[in-house]
Amino acid sequence: MIVALIIYMTLQLPLFSSSVNFSEPQDKFKDSALLVPDLIQKHGYPCENHTVVTPDGYILKMHRIPYGKKSFSEKRSVTYLQHGMLASSADWVLPGPRKGFAYILADFGYNVLMSNVRGTGYSRKHTYLDPERHSLEFWDFSWHEMGVIHIPTMIDHIINKTNENKLFYIGHLQGATVFYVMCSAMFSLAPIASLKHMISPLLLVVAEFRTGILISITY
Ligand SMILES: *[C@@H]1O[C@H](CO)[C@@H](O)[C@H](O)[C@H]1NC(C)=O
Ligand SMILES: *[C@@H]1O[C@H](CO)[C@@H](O)[C@H](O)[C@H]1NC(C)=O
Ligand SMILES: *[C@@H]1O[C@H](CO)[C@@H](O)[C@H](O)[C@H]1NC(C)=O
Repeated sequence: MIVALIIYMTLQLPLFSSSVNFSEPQDKFKDSALLVPDLIQKHGYPCENHTVVTPDGYILKMHRIPYGKKSFSEKRSVTYLQHGMLASSADWVLPGPRKGFAYILADFGYNVLMSNVRGTGYSRKHTYLDPERHSLEFWDFSWHEMGVIHIPTMIDHIINKTNENKLFYIGHLQGATVFYVMCSAMFSLAPIASLKHMISPLLLVVAEFRTGILISITY
């Protein structure tokens, strides 16, 4: 079972931060000039690169922060972060430690995996299609392929690598939409989101699920 927690969060991109001075000369050691794994390591966090190939041949990069600075325990729940449109795994780390959502989760003791969908900077490769020479075939995809192929491939990869059978899925904008696409075979008839006001004796059975989780989906 996958417990899915879909949130909409406000990204604190440096672009909108008053601390950015665009007239400063480009410094190659500045955060904005670094690739995501190098940026994470620059801030003293561990980072792994994962390469995952989808059944339809797209070669995708995932970045992992296995643990943070504050908490390091053997049992760390897996959190899968899926970025929005025109974004990448950089979204979760650009604001830096204590602000970037990936760092916050890692410091809270989560095993954080950030994927990059096909066509983004880190995932612009295919086993036999060239994004420039075969542009019509390479770019012929939409939310559908992300939901039906990308997310399940990533989840299978994570399950295989971590031996966990549960993960938290956190999707921002398109990252949330594609999760719904993946689950589109499910029709919610009177779904239950909260049991807070329940008075039935059945509560004894379901009490465990009473708080916290917004959406719980059997996969
Ligand atoms: C921006 O950077 C330039 C060059 O380093 C500097 O002269 C200027 O004062 C800075 N502006 C602000 C608002 O910090
Ligand atoms: C991960 O990728 C980055 C950038 O491509 C590279 O600099 C780094 O050495 C890689 N890390 C590992 C552990 O392979
Ligand atoms: C799981 O990973 C191993 C090696 O890391 C690989 O040989 C195996 O094919 C993978 N299984 C699946 C279902 O992806």
